[in-house]
Amino acid sequence: MGITMVDCLNNVMVRQFMCATQLAAIDFKNISKEVDFILMILSHPMLQKYPLKTLYITRFLKAIIIQMENNGNELCDDLYLKYVELIQNESNEGPFYKHYILGNNISNELTESVITIQESTSIVSQGTTGLCTWQAGIALSCWCLKNQDILKDKFIIELGCGTGLSGISACLNCSPSEYWFTDCHSAVLNTLKHNIQINETHHKFNCKYDTIQLSWNDIEDLKMFEKKKPDLVLAADVIFDDTMFEPLCSTLKYFTNNITTEIILFCTLRNSETYTKFLATLKKYDLHFAQSVLPDNYSIVLQQNCPIYIIRVQQNAIMS
Ligand SMILES: C[S@@+](CC[C@H](N)C(=O)[O-])C[C@H]1O[C@@H](n2cnc3c(N)ncnc32)[C@H](O)[C@@H]1O
Repeated sequence: MGITMVDCLNNVMVRQFMCATQLAAIDFKNISKEVDFILMILSHPMLQKYPLKTLYITRFLKAIIIQMENNGNELCDDLYLKYVELIQNESNEGPFYKHYILGNNISNELTESVITIQESTSIVSQGTTGLCTWQAGIALSCWCLKNQDILKDKFIIELGCGTGLSGISACLNCSPSEYWFTDCHSAVLNTLKHNIQINETHHKFNCKYDTIQLSWNDIEDLKMFEKKKPDLVLAADVIFDDTMFEPLCSTLKYFTNNITTEIILFCTLRNSETYTKFLATLKKYDLHFAQSVLPDNYSIVLQQNCPIYIIRVQQNAIMS
């Protein structure tokens, strides 16, 4: 029997390939059906229209070729031909995309099973960190899927939303009443809008949503919440630049003035000094917090080289 798209999209290596997981984190040892799966995905119109970075694909195919040679497997011509075709096109400058298969709700239509995100391949580009998706953002996207009840019917604000993966995952899977994607950077907001548009053509957004320019440095930006208070404030990977801690905590403090607003932050612990400094800033703003760490192997699309913390923030008076 021929291979189906469902078999293909359920495969671990395919999922890792589609979101351009670092090669070092992929187990190439036991390749069998994977070669056919990868060739099938690569020729799909979705990946032709929204391609992964060419250099990533050629390195990935090279890793497969080397492993097959080491295993003494016969190499198929299609694999070599694809590899040769792509190395001639390596200087292609994009735009490039990643395709996230987060849950187990796989359909035979590739477009219905993935969230497609245009991403920069550098961690800082156009003066912002928001044009690529960060690990805590991927973690938040997976957490939304596993905690749909926490988001259902809620008015949610996301701070520093970047490319929009977490928010798109929440809108598609969790039926919030409303979701506001916010970020301070115009280029980030433009990419975000593009990403929402791509995914809207293949998925039904189950809520109202908006994209809003909001800077933690500008207290005026918070005026829009005077009448309409969020039930839930989310943010991922916003704790890395200590010059931002005071404005961020001041923004969080503003939201905690409404006692029913919950705040949940996802944070990758890359540098424990920076992390400790952020917790000290929360205390300085009289904000109470509870931390938990994401379990290992939370999702196969996530690289948990560093621990990912979930921090729940509240007014001190409520928690104590
Ligand atoms: C490291 S990125 C994380 C993006 C996304 N949450 C993710 O996890 O992929 C940090 C984000 O915070 C935004 N940001 C940085 N400083 C900000 C500020 N003062 N006000 C609002 N957003 C800010 C950046 O534009 C960027 O999108």
